[in-house]
Amino acid sequence: MTSGGDAPGMNAAVRAATRAALARGWEVYGIRNGFTGLLANTMDLLHARDVGGIIQRGGTVLGSARSSEFQEEAGLNRALSNVRRRGIDALIVIGGNGSQAGSNRIAQAGFPIVGIASTIDNDLLGTDVSIGVDTAVNITLESIDRLRTTGSSHQRAFLVETMGRNCGYIALMTGIAGGAEVIATPEFEVEPQEVAQRLGDAYRRGKTHALVVVAEGAKHGAQAMMRHFAEHRDTIGFGLRVTTLGHVVRGGVPTAADRVLATRLGAAAVDHLALDKSGVLVGLLSNEIAATPLADVVGKTKPIDGALLEMARVLAH
Ligand code: F6P
Repeated sequence: MTSGGDAPGMNAAVRAATRAALARGWEVYGIRNGFTGLLANTMDLLHARDVGGIIQRGGTVLGSARSSEFQEEAGLNRALSNVRRRGIDALIVIGGNGSQAGSNRIAQAGFPIVGIASTIDNDLLGTDVSIGVDTAVNITLESIDRLRTTGSSHQRAFLVETMGRNCGYIALMTGIAGGAEVIATPEFEVEPQEVAQRLGDAYRRGKTHALVVVAEGAKHGAQAMMRHFAEHRDTIGFGLRVTTLGHVVRGGVPTAADRVLATRLGAAAVDHLALDKSGVLVGLLSNEIAATPLADVVGKTKPIDGALLEMARVLAH
């Protein structure tokens, strides 16, 4: 199943897991709409052709959802009884933090399950990078590059808010790659006064444009920043505009890196089940497949690298 917020590359993981399992002579069911489908017992037998032509498609052909019903004890019991009645021996859950918390509950109940790290937020421990991150970073970066050209023409500063929930990874990477003047994340907050100060300094140093990248989870989001800037317009110098990217960041065609990552993790999940290694999240650490106990992963957030943020600040000069 795919679960939680969709991520570009999920389909490549579905394809890989399906075909790797079929190659072992196993039967594969695709569960519709994540844990909601597990509770509703909506699952279909998948053959090799059913997962053909999807490796390049964004979103998830299986559908996804966030299920509050599964959080309840009764929901977990119904899910387990549904899979057992079907004669299903193991589950693979492709998703992020919330979804893998669900996987962990199933693992704790003694049912074989492997999670695959998939979230654009890149906040999951147990993997350097999750499925969807590379695409989300590249989509955000393309928007930043586009804003920079018009920013230069009009001597404007642009503030771009990107996704990432409580994690600033996408903002950090795109801020570095896009040459932003300021990067604000939930882990390393920047007060609006300081943002205004840095923009004003950039203007006085003769910059023709300036970029501020803000993670959606930052305390001072796009709207709060704009309210402050509106009151201090004269000290900043630049004209200012704001762009909130929202779900655009999660849509579209997965990059090659996401397709390859998803394919490796999909196949690895099946390998782990075949070896009776369950209750783990499969991810990639130092470019090697790594399995981390779900219990060690859930409820925690992978930190971003503050040294990279400082490097970006110095180089924005
Ligand atoms: O977890 C992925 C994500 O896109 C976050 O970056 C964002 O905060 C959240 O999902 C949005 O959730 P929804 O799609 O339910 O609005």
